[in-house]
Amino acid sequence: MTFQKRTHNCGELRIENENQEVILNGWVAVVRDMGGLIFIDLRDRYGITQLVIEPNNYPNLAEKSKELKSEYVIWAKGTVRKRENPNPRIPTGLIEILLNDFSIINRSELPPFEIKDDLETSEELRLKYRYLDLRRHSLQKNFLIRHKLYQVVHSFFDSQSFIEVETPVLMKSTPEGARDFLVPSRINKGRFYALPQSPQIFKQILMISGFDRYVQIVKCFRDEDLRSDRQPEFTQIDVEMSFIDREDIFKLVEGLFKRVWKDILDIEISIPFPRLSYNETMTRFGSDKPDTRFQMEIVTITDIVKNSNFKVFSDTISSGGVVGLINAKGCSDFSRKKLDELAEFAKKYGAKGLAWIKLQDGEINSPIAKFLDKSELDSIISSSNAENGDLLLIISDSWLKCYTILGALRNEIAKQTGILENVSDKFAFLWVTDFPLLEFDEEEQRYVSMHHPFTSPMDEDLELLEKEPEKTRAKAYDIVVNGAEVGGGSIRIHDGTVQSKIFSLLGMSQTEAESKFGFLLDALKFGAPPHGGIALGLDRIVMTLCGTENIRDVIAFPKTTSGLSLMDGAPTFVEEKQLKELGIKLIE
Ligand code: AMO
Ligand code: AMP
Repeated sequence: MTFQKRTHNCGELRIENENQEVILNGWVAVVRDMGGLIFIDLRDRYGITQLVIEPNNYPNLAEKSKELKSEYVIWAKGTVRKRENPNPRIPTGLIEILLNDFSIINRSELPPFEIKDDLETSEELRLKYRYLDLRRHSLQKNFLIRHKLYQVVHSFFDSQSFIEVETPVLMKSTPEGARDFLVPSRINKGRFYALPQSPQIFKQILMISGFDRYVQIVKCFRDEDLRSDRQPEFTQIDVEMSFIDREDIFKLVEGLFKRVWKDILDIEISIPFPRLSYNETMTRFGSDKPDTRFQMEIVTITDIVKNSNFKVFSDTISSGGVVGLINAKGCSDFSRKKLDELAEFAKKYGAKGLAWIKLQDGEINSPIAKFLDKSELDSIISSSNAENGDLLLIISDSWLKCYTILGALRNEIAKQTGILENVSDKFAFLWVTDFPLLEFDEEEQRYVSMHHPFTSPMDEDLELLEKEPEKTRAKAYDIVVNGAEVGGGSIRIHDGTVQSKIFSLLGMSQTEAESKFGFLLDALKFGAPPHGGIALGLDRIVMTLCGTENIRDVIAFPKTTSGLSLMDGAPTFVEEKQLKELGIKLIE
């Protein structure tokens, strides 16, 4: 079917275009028949323009318009005129198009939901009909931001002499961290490729090849449990540099974020970003990705209660644990029910209990007050700057658990009391540094890398590697904004001997290390420059720029948290013939 091609889009006509004859193409948003006049809102990516038919002058158009329904695709020709009732909420709101002709280009079935910004339909339905969901301007604007981010990233890194190099999507399986997605090889039956969890090893090898500065906007794949900020395939801005230390990475990334925020949001952010060591961020905020837009810092009261008669506290401390609290300002009116719910919340993070002290009507109200003597209570109150009206939430446990639980409570209280909403237009960036190199995995009964096995230990901690591995700190860093980890990286090991030692600390035999990472160990023998880098989570940066908590709002065709693509139905079963070609047999 032929159609008349547009002269303008649906977002660009203004009062300056008055009296011009124009043609628009687009989707019918709504038709309103007011008797004397018929109005049609026409939509495309650029906006909405009001079309109007005068039935008295154009009876045939009025007749044809009876057929029109939402989401029909039409072309429409007419003259731009000033609106009698302007709509100040849309950029085209001062004008309308008085039609002298139009035709239907294509019809639409009744959509399962209305295409509008404040939609309340279930996400499942939206994902099944993603093409309709994506017609909504509120979602399309996220992809415009995403697109702008690609442009800024490319221009920023190009201006700093970085080279974009593509690394393989079919690679060797080297599981470390998350699980790999595997791809069977047909011509090498029984063998598998893996999809990259990140281009980590390739970018290091590019440094050994002398590329010096590498960047890539790259898809990564991880078969891990999904959450609102995690997808099985996601995008990184992957960076690696040679002959540098971490200061160079900090400066580079701060420069990038400054540019991105300026160019995309027109916001001047201040650099350099604050830095907190892992230990400091854990003891102050109870998280290695703290939301520093608000205070409510953790207060450690181990010293105050270490000899307390309250055995829960003193016993925990004597077995190496700690006691800490947060002051929920003005929350002394929390009901018993609400406190029980908070205790349940804390239990989800592993808490054994939740002790609380209310300062109410000049009195102390607490189930544990009877176990504490006056001087202990006074010190607890003064160390936490508690005033009448406040609620102290206290946790005693091992170091990591105590602070992690308090960190979760801190975020929860901020959410419940509206603190978060008050800071929703702020951006708080920071670097978290000096992570431990290793952590002990109880399940596997061995050390695992906190970042990845190619991360360099701190020079001054090298001696700890043998004696007290868990105390060794790494040259690793994360970048955090508003409580989200938007990037992580490290200075790498460029000495093959140190790399082998780390593999062995991780419980890998020499044979195993050779078979898994022999190609890297070999490459390290041929003149590896000192190097390091970072990978920024592009989807999470877009989430922050768009102000959404849901990663699916910034990925055009995302998976659900159970890994399904509801629109096309992936993953699906495949034909027996396909499996046979691959030499694969399914077990029941
Ligand atoms: P890391 O594993 O920390 O580092 O990943 C870097 C950043 O990628 C983002 N990210 C994700 N985003 C969405 N969904 C996911 N499933 C997901 N997983 C990670 C996060 C994270 O900070 N090779 C190293 C980087 C390096 O050392 O240079 C790496 O991949 O924002
Ligand atoms: P119990 O004597 O076990 O009944 O505990 C008395 C109070 O201490 C209750 O309010 C418990 O929730 C709280 N509690 C118990 N264990 C802990 C803990 N590990 N940290 C903080 N409070 C706790």
